[in-house]
Amino acid sequence: MIIVTGGAGFIGANFVLDWLAHSDEPVLTLDKLTYAGNLENLASLRGDPRHVFVQGDIGDRALLDRLLAEHRPRAVLHFAAESHVDRSIHGPEDFIQTNVLGTFRLLEAARAYWSGLQEAEKSAFRFLHVSTDEVYGSLSPTDPAFAETKRYEPNSPYSASKAASDHLVRAWHHTYGLPVLTTNCSNNYGPYHFPEKLIPLMIVNALAGKPLPVYGDGQQVRDWLYVKDHCSAIRRVLEAGQLGETYNVGGWNEKPNIEIVHTVCALLDELRPRADGQRYATQISYVKDRPGHDRRYAIDARKLEADLGWKPSETFDTGIRKTVLWYLDNAEWVARVQSGAYRDWVATQYGAPDGAAA
Ligand code: NAD
Ligand code: TYD
Repeated sequence: MIIVTGGAGFIGANFVLDWLAHSDEPVLTLDKLTYAGNLENLASLRGDPRHVFVQGDIGDRALLDRLLAEHRPRAVLHFAAESHVDRSIHGPEDFIQTNVLGTFRLLEAARAYWSGLQEAEKSAFRFLHVSTDEVYGSLSPTDPAFAETKRYEPNSPYSASKAASDHLVRAWHHTYGLPVLTTNCSNNYGPYHFPEKLIPLMIVNALAGKPLPVYGDGQQVRDWLYVKDHCSAIRRVLEAGQLGETYNVGGWNEKPNIEIVHTVCALLDELRPRADGQRYATQISYVKDRPGHDRRYAIDARKLEADLGWKPSETFDTGIRKTVLWYLDNAEWVARVQSGAYRDWVATQYGAPDGAAA
């Protein structure tokens, strides 16, 4: 079986759902259920004997030791993190606690468990660390896309904390021989994306008749990847990645933010036109820029393609249409996130506010 940390969040939940759609190998999801963790994302697995959910913190070493000893995973896939740049600017402490200290505790627990395994299990074990392209810093319009060899230049508290965690993972491999793999992915989008991030925020605000806040001049460039392509890349790296290596994951889809917002508006005009006949783009509102805002990210994903044969299967056009349709079809999910009702899910579904539940 495998352990997935942060499996109730956006990418982690997509990963767990996809994993169990592709294989019967059981998954234990360990998630603290911060504001970003939503167990409703995994509601379709309720009662599925292949899935165990445990509410807990990756910083809780005793819990980690117990789960590893009891479940004896062949891999730990580490998604859990504080992930929102704007929140990291307002309150960086949680980012240091979870992304740096939490990753350290998880590495130490994994090392202790792995050290005690028999030779065959020991050589098969993997610790896969899910990271971001933001560790590489910001590009000018003419710079080449980030290769794995690019110097780390993190600019936000979020990216600095993720860079620190990447360095810890690397060091645990070089010093202790822990069999690690690291992926650095570009911006994801797709189902279950918490509506504080650009794409889901634009969809839900547009539908609610609210302003669509575009930071600064809207010309910042991000490289967008449909979340299910990220999940397939992680499965491939887990299966065939070289120990100690890092793999950049991206979809060759660089777009300025304002173009993304216009695309979302145009899809909504087509799929759910406004009652008053106006265009959703009239709701766009330029607002004060984010401090230290990185201008451009772009991923060079050639290593992953050349070494492991991975390629994304969605284009931006197909992925963004699926995403907008998902939000239109899942108004209940959106409403429960917006009202905060999703936070009651554990108590209502499992009868207790914390602890382990299958
Ligand atoms: P998310 O914020 O949606 O989910 C994070 C999950 O981690 C939540 O379920 C939360 O409850 C859980 N969590 C937070 N602190 C925890 C702790 N101390 N112990 C246990 N669980 C904890 O984030 P996401 O967008 O799904 O990102 C997942 C991972 O992928 C992160 O490591 C992030 O850095 C990385 N990443 C994200 C993107 C992106 O575009 N979203 C791109 C590249 C990499
Ligand atoms: P975000 O989804 O927060 O991802 P990240 O900062 O990790 O790349 O933001 C994506 C881009 O969209 C980023 O350049 C900031 C911008 N943005 C806005 O213009 N308005 C918004 O309301 C949000 C949330 C983001």
